[in-house]
Amino acid sequence: MSISSFLTKKFLKSLFFPAHNRGKALPKKLIKLLKNTPGLWDLPELPEIGSPLSNSGLIAKSRRELSEKFKAKGCFYGVNGASGLIQSAVITMANPGDSILMPRNVHISVIKICASQNISPIFFDLEISSETGHYKPITKKWLEHVFEKINIKKEKVVGIILVNPTYQGYAIDQKPLIDLCHQKNLPVLVDEAHGSYFLFCENLDLPKSSLLSNADLVVHSLHKSLNGLTQTAVLWYKGNLINEHNLIKSINLLQTTSPSSLLLSSCEESIKDWLNKKSLSKYQKRILEAKGIYKKLIQKNIPLIETQDPLKIVLNTSKFGIDGFTADKFFYKNGLIAELPEMMTLTFCLGFADQKDFLYLFEKLWNKLLLNSKKLKSLEVLPSPFKLVQAPEIEIGIAWRSKTRSIPFSQSLNKISGDIICPYPPGIPVIVPGEKIDIDRFNWINNQSLCNKDLVNFNIRVI
Ligand SMILES: Cc1ncc(COP(=O)(O)O)c(C=O)c1O
Repeated sequence: MSISSFLTKKFLKSLFFPAHNRGKALPKKLIKLLKNTPGLWDLPELPEIGSPLSNSGLIAKSRRELSEKFKAKGCFYGVNGASGLIQSAVITMANPGDSILMPRNVHISVIKICASQNISPIFFDLEISSETGHYKPITKKWLEHVFEKINIKKEKVVGIILVNPTYQGYAIDQKPLIDLCHQKNLPVLVDEAHGSYFLFCENLDLPKSSLLSNADLVVHSLHKSLNGLTQTAVLWYKGNLINEHNLIKSINLLQTTSPSSLLLSSCEESIKDWLNKKSLSKYQKRILEAKGIYKKLIQKNIPLIETQDPLKIVLNTSKFGIDGFTADKFFYKNGLIAELPEMMTLTFCLGFADQKDFLYLFEKLWNKLLLNSKKLKSLEVLPSPFKLVQAPEIEIGIAWRSKTRSIPFSQSLNKISGDIICPYPPGIPVIVPGEKIDIDRFNWINNQSLCNKDLVNFNIRVI
């Protein structure tokens, strides 16, 4: 079968990204565009459109209008996902040899750019929930402890990254954290890949977008948390801690010279669609319906985890001794396709289409899975193996470029990794180049990989 023939395959229920739910919730204007002669819309950077970085043309006009609307200094559309714009933001803040403070649940795109530029990641640990194995959001108090453990000047820390909300939808008000970083004169990049739509829902008791909390750089993944096509993203910037010239230079450095006009149009339409009153009220209704789905499933004693993002349904499979990967396989086989299997949970993304039939199907399949499974006791996660603040033993850029050899992970105890080991999704590295695989880390990774076939018996490159 060719790729193209697979693309039109129908599933009973698609609860994965992109959040437009296989076209059902694409912006109306984009649907109209796609109904034209196929390919008609695939244009180069003609003067009327301009490029993602130019000061004139339709893209520039659209960016200016949206920046004004959200009181940002500016914004840029991206066609290489939130990943591409996050990487540009990282090299805007830091030069080779500088350090950036970041949480343990940072996305792999950050680690890759740090490795290629030799920017040191200084990790701070997060609390892990023993019930779910998920990282919890950090509080101001937690971040204050982190700052107590680090000498910002000595370590050449030039910025900080925060991730909010997480993949599973945990979020916390970022304003106190951002204010704390600003008191230390540190610019803040918030990876809000999963929270774009919060920007439009201040009335729905959802987490506040970091863009409204004075973050210096905010990156939204428009296909994950708005209704854009895959690869679309936007970066917003604000305040005086970011050098605009550096930002433009950094975006230019990592950007294709042939950005897709279709994707650029999708960037614009996915945001503008939410500024249209009629569409907004439709999407807000969907969000309220999602809250209703959660409530009804809880009433039926289905073990869901509460998060702050109503569009994520997080099933705690481990409560019944079932790991998320086994549950994922079962749901997949039965036509209900989830987004994120993990050791203890399985996360479904409702997206922006109508999901009324989800409730019945989900309940039916969950009960069938329970009937088919032997009742085992709950799974357990090991406590975090990380120090509160920790940097790799060897500079990341040096480790990345070092000569390495591939060995089974089981033989890697006390060796230094030359590799990024990262299950995807969620794209959070468990080890990065330059880090030592000490006994705690070794046991923790073994425990993490128990049920994940990508990680069972895997090889690692060590220095
Ligand atoms: C927290 C987080 N940030 C950034 C990204 C990258 O987003 P994109 O797929 O749009 O490049 C992801 C993707 O999984 C993510 O989970």
